[in-house]
Amino acid sequence: MAAQVLSGHEAAEAVYEEIRARLRGLSFTPSLRVIRLGEDPASVAYVRLKDKRAKALGYRSQVEVYPEDLPEEALLERIAALNADEEVDGILVQLPLPPHIRTQRVLEAIHPLKDVDGFHPLNVGRLWSGGKGLFPCTPLGVVRLLKHYGVDLRGKEVVVVGRSNIVGKPLAGLLLREDATVTLAHSKTQDLPEVTRRAQVLVVAVGRPHLVRKAWVREGAIVVDVGVNRVEGRLLGDVHPEVAEVASALTPVPGGVGPMTVAMLMRNTLEAALLRRHGVSG
Ligand code: GUN
Repeated sequence: MAAQVLSGHEAAEAVYEEIRARLRGLSFTPSLRVIRLGEDPASVAYVRLKDKRAKALGYRSQVEVYPEDLPEEALLERIAALNADEEVDGILVQLPLPPHIRTQRVLEAIHPLKDVDGFHPLNVGRLWSGGKGLFPCTPLGVVRLLKHYGVDLRGKEVVVVGRSNIVGKPLAGLLLREDATVTLAHSKTQDLPEVTRRAQVLVVAVGRPHLVRKAWVREGAIVVDVGVNRVEGRLLGDVHPEVAEVASALTPVPGGVGPMTVAMLMRNTLEAALLRRHGVSG
């Protein structure tokens, strides 16, 4: 039987519905500021999507675009000004940054309460220590997508392939918080197909087109493809389409995790606005 398609558009719409309901009870409008350096086409496209969606929800959203050669100190000064700006709830610096800029320094400069990406070490620590905080959007989107389709993660054997700070590592933390049994595999993992075959839920976030073949997947597994690889003008996931023959459910690329990342950014922006005003989320 062909695998069920887990639509990110459908699950994202449920997130937007929930956000709209919460916004109706508020006396303020959340505001998002996105900073982009240079004209990397993927970054331009992602930032446009974020800004468009924020505006569609009625958020105050502004994109600040700077030249690729903006000095690190100038970027840090701009972030300091936005940290101090009472009108700004969420700050996002689009990655990757040019090589002359120390990314970690920039991420640590963003106030943790405005850190809608969840990349500040304080939020990373809170993710792992079980506290309340702002957590990365793509991993949040993966968990939310699975929950939308009724996947119970408790006690399940979940294998995450890829250990990036943006997806793999924070996703492992979130899955642990959901009581999953988590394996974090990566490019140095020995006999990777043997490890992925153990998974009841398999999440792949490595950026290698069609890496995961059907022999890597356990019969009936749920497979989440976080990969977005541009190959000859086409968008390809990290999971080969033949996996649909063995998986019970699979996320499409595009239209799977991507829309969820944007949805969870919108949710984080609302959370940040509430956290900063009340110290709690409403
Ligand atoms: N580039 C790719 N993914 C992301 C993300 O989640 N946040 C930011 N800021 N940049 C990214």
